[in-house]
Amino acid sequence: MNKPLSASDLSAYWMPYTANRNFKASPRMLVSAEGMYYRDDAGNAILDGTAGLWCVPLGHAQPKIVSAVQKAVATLDYAPSFQLGHPMAFELAERLKQYTGGRYSQVFYTGSGSEAVDTALKIALAYHRSRGDATRTRLIGRERGYHGVGFGGMSVGGIGGNRKTFNSALLQGVDHLPHTHNLEKNAFTKGEPEYGTHLADELERLVTLHDASNIAAVIVEPVAGSTGVLIPPKGYLQRLRDICTKHGILLIFDEVITGFGRLGTPFASDYFGVDPDIFTTAKGLTNGVVPMGAVFVKPHIHDAFMNGPDGIELFHGYTYSGHPLACAAGLASLDIFEQDGILEHANSVADYWQEAAHSLRGLPHVIDIRTIGMIVGIELASIPGKVGARAYDAFRRAFNDGILIRVTGDIIALSPPLVIEKKHIDELFGKLAAILKTLD
Ligand SMILES: Cc1ncc(COP(=O)(O)O)c(C=O)c1O
Repeated sequence: MNKPLSASDLSAYWMPYTANRNFKASPRMLVSAEGMYYRDDAGNAILDGTAGLWCVPLGHAQPKIVSAVQKAVATLDYAPSFQLGHPMAFELAERLKQYTGGRYSQVFYTGSGSEAVDTALKIALAYHRSRGDATRTRLIGRERGYHGVGFGGMSVGGIGGNRKTFNSALLQGVDHLPHTHNLEKNAFTKGEPEYGTHLADELERLVTLHDASNIAAVIVEPVAGSTGVLIPPKGYLQRLRDICTKHGILLIFDEVITGFGRLGTPFASDYFGVDPDIFTTAKGLTNGVVPMGAVFVKPHIHDAFMNGPDGIELFHGYTYSGHPLACAAGLASLDIFEQDGILEHANSVADYWQEAAHSLRGLPHVIDIRTIGMIVGIELASIPGKVGARAYDAFRRAFNDGILIRVTGDIIALSPPLVIEKKHIDELFGKLAAILKTLD
């Protein structure tokens, strides 16, 4: 057991996306992790129902990743990536390319999901410019979308709370598609809902309004996560793809949470059978062990840059692009995905996982349960005038009862490590059911 930190020990760390004063009055402190469980400073085991922040598909303290990173740090602790390279960065890019089945030809490394999004948006703008289409600058996101916290990602993002404070500093020339959430039509759906495909046609309306010659790209999460699990209606993503192709607009998928097996396929594009021109990843890329993001591009995107004048083709990059430790973690993660049958395992438990979630239907306050792959969203009715209070109460009680869940507004989002077993699923939903029965 660790010695608890005092209030003054906690004060210097300004925590992200956290009610700091509330947390510091009653901290939840994680001190170790292994497999499916965290351990807190009182020695309690906490079942990880959220794969950290959607980023630990292979479970915690994976021995092959631990030793790969240990070896890397002792061999090449850091290497600049501007005008210099190191072999692992090239090896990982090639392996990632193969992981897409060769559909994507190049990978640009970043340090996070937010950086991956901003990189993808910049590539889209620079792509059009390099082809003489310099008026194509408008970016289109979607209401309720989450694309990280950079100015680009925030601007195409569609979550009011994230935008409000920074309104005047958001990028100009951004529009949003409507979100696809509709409880009247789609509540308690397993997989893709029937209703809402037509909402993709709103893109045609924006094209009519702005003219295609001014639009660079559309960016969406194939399954929206941070807003509380919004699953695309049947055929919706294909329709977006068709409209983008028709008008020469680039389609970007933000696969920061859906990448690396969350739907039981390498990427959401595999699951839905829809290929964007560019897609972003992070999180599961290194099993969350070392921060890293990666932007994947189709050959036509990369070619447009390589056919330009000699010299630096894209004035963009990060000190930590292709960090050796991240590359080592990424390579070890891919080895595990491929050698340990992770996707096969995820697919073998996905139905049990989804059924366990749907068994909560009928419990107090539950107004929707939506599931796809290894993702669950459980929407609770809000307490009038106190949106989010009920789910936050569930989160606090869950932690005390030894399960980690994630809440956003009054939606509980679950996305466990893909190595989860049926006994863990029983534990997670058994405890959650008990908590839901006692919520005010
Ligand atoms: C879809 C999506 N894009 C981007 C991000 C931002 O990633 P990061 O927090 O690594 O910057 C997230 C994070 O949750 C995400 O879910």
